[in-house]
Amino acid sequence: MRLHIINGPNLNLLGLREPDIYGKQSYGDLVEYLHASAETLGIAIDCFQSNHEGELVTLIQQTYGQADGIVINPAAYTHTSVAILDALKAVALPAVEVHLSDVSQREDFRRVSYPALACIAVIAGKGFVGYKDAMILLRSALAK
Ligand code: DQA
Repeated sequence: MRLHIINGPNLNLLGLREPDIYGKQSYGDLVEYLHASAETLGIAIDCFQSNHEGELVTLIQQTYGQADGIVINPAAYTHTSVAILDALKAVALPAVEVHLSDVSQREDFRRVSYPALACIAVIAGKGFVGYKDAMILLRSALAK
């Protein structure tokens, strides 16, 4: 089983950006955590990050034929991007949306998610662990 883990804008600045909300660990720490978790779970992963909406669309398109499922934190594009929703619908792979912070407890505009309409679940507010939970969820969804 292979999963693509796709992170959106400003997540490359983890550790630096709003540490009270997103924590003090860096994007590099996240990638390390993802690889360690995937190994424990017996899942192969590829990790990607982009600050550009079109590049995120291309990364989603490229999962087709290359991965069995998608873990995606679309970051700010969560709340605006029909293009990301359409790309997820186009490849039609099981996908889980992850947010480090609890978006339901923040500004009203963060309660809207377009990509969630094409995802089997949304996990928010669990920090790095949310990504591991997403992998576990996809592993059981794909085993069915
Ligand atoms: C985020 C939540 C988004 O609202 C925000 O724009 C982000 C990060 C999160 O992981 O909590 O950039 O996706």
